Amino acid sequence: MRRILCISGPNLRLLGTREPGVYGKETLAEIHGRLTARASELGVTLEAQQSNREGEIVDFIGAARGKFDGILLNAAAYTHTSIAILDALLAIGIPTVEVHLSNPEAREPFRRRSIIARACIGKVSGFRGDSYVLALDGLVGYLSKK
Ligand code: DQA
Repeated sequence: MRRILCISGPNLRLLGTREPGVYGKETLAEIHGRLTARASELGVTLEAQQSNREGEIVDFIGAARGKFDGILLNAAAYTHTSIAILDALLAIGIPTVEVHLSNPEAREPFRRRSIIARACIGKVSGFRGDSYVLALDGLVGYLSKK
């Protein structure tokens, strides 16, 4: 059975009340619930983590080798700044999908650059909570063809 790790970065535990016009009204717990349900339909396991700290996200990624087959990563603001997260992804080489609730390219200029994109197999953005579920479908399809 394929094992998927979902990591969400800073401020995403505030979903539900955080800028609902941008991120939607769904909480992170509700998104994780939907992801878990979809994971069982797809026949994969899913573990979900959230951290506001860059180093802890690096730790989650570093510990994933040998334990997970794929990663869903919404690095939130660290998407645009973190060479440490990029390096962690390059070090482990586990297929990773970049996820965003909003469409960062359509927002402020500083959100248009993703530092982590070069370590990802693809990206799903702009569909609010559905971005996570769509990314899971894409990742599991990718892994099944490997
Ligand atoms: C985000 C987009 C980022 O630019 C922002 O810093 C976030 C959330 C998204 O899911 O749309 O915190 O990753």
